[in-house]
Amino acid sequence: MADTNQYYERFNLPQSPYFLSHSVGCISKLSESMLAQNFLEPWKTSGGNAWGPWLELIGEFDAALARLLDSDPDYFCPQQNLSSGFTKFLMSLPKPSAKRNKVLIHPDAFPSMGFVINAMQKMGLELAYVQPSAPTQQLQMWEESLNDTIFCALITHVHSNTGHVSPVSEIVKLCAGKNVYSTVDIAQSAGILPISLSSWNADAVFGSCVKWLCGGPGAGFIWTNPNILQRLRPSDVGWFSHEDPFEMDINSFEYAGTAKRFWGGTPSIAPYAIALGGIRCITEIGVENILDHNRVLMRRVLSNSESVASHAVDINHIGGTLCLPVKENLVNKLSEILNKQKIFFDQRKHVFRLSFHIYNNERECQALNDAFAQVSLN
Ligand SMILES: Cc1ncc(COP(=O)(O)O)c(C=O)c1O
Repeated sequence: MADTNQYYERFNLPQSPYFLSHSVGCISKLSESMLAQNFLEPWKTSGGNAWGPWLELIGEFDAALARLLDSDPDYFCPQQNLSSGFTKFLMSLPKPSAKRNKVLIHPDAFPSMGFVINAMQKMGLELAYVQPSAPTQQLQMWEESLNDTIFCALITHVHSNTGHVSPVSEIVKLCAGKNVYSTVDIAQSAGILPISLSSWNADAVFGSCVKWLCGGPGAGFIWTNPNILQRLRPSDVGWFSHEDPFEMDINSFEYAGTAKRFWGGTPSIAPYAIALGGIRCITEIGVENILDHNRVLMRRVLSNSESVASHAVDINHIGGTLCLPVKENLVNKLSEILNKQKIFFDQRKHVFRLSFHIYNNERECQALNDAFAQVSLN
């Protein structure tokens, strides 16, 4: 297990055990200093001339993502969040035919992504669901659902309410074989599961830095595959989507040759200064290292949760969050005890969500185990 004491110091942590990294990861000290030095300081000392260092910072953000996710900085473009990246991507595709107009999604995908598809009805798109199944049956379900009415698929790498991991590479391959655009949501996996965008070879990937990357809200991103990039025609554009933003000719617009064609008007900078600190901090510690630590703590909690769990959780098919289904009659009692102890967790009905990051430790997990024991005694 990683010696987390050497890593605690790098984060600002709440007083009591924090198991909410699937919601908001804790802010690193590096993020605080990046915000002060790379965003506020240039502004304070040089006003509008801060754009030079600010745009350099965005370049570093793209480069840090490229390193973390095994790709090239030019294929990334900052976006406010995943929903907006997904909307922009769908709007950049050629118009779907009336026969092949469905966007396939798992029913456990994050609702926001379903809202995006439904809002695209005016573009002729329709939402379709993959049949829900046990994690081991997922690939078969995708294969059965990828028929010739499907235009695009959104694969959620890690589902937020079950923790289940999707076999992304295999689903992307199925999509490619059926001429379906493949896209991936990595909101719940970036920073906790190793990811190689180059190996996945999906058409587009959407992510954010707010969870396991400890990068705060507002620093999302889109990644687009270089093989289709030149054919993508975003509708939501601005001068920063231009090949030369400073050309300043209203009659001349040329899409940027890189994924920056998805950027738009004057970009925000501050969220990316914070996020860059988070990504660098996580990359330095190492995703593999964080995942190993996560598994040690998760196993410890899982093996003590049998008395409260309504059914078993298979650690081999989940991301960094333990989505623990609690017996109906114990739900209120357990949440009461955890709240009383000021433990940070959340609930989706009877499912308790607990995330184990590098800044969590055995002592905190013992507090959970004690709570389980207390609930089952009563
Ligand atoms: C799997 C998944 N996708 C997407 C999101 C968030 O989407 P957005 O960045 O559009 O708010 C979340 C947030 O919890 C999530 O868990």
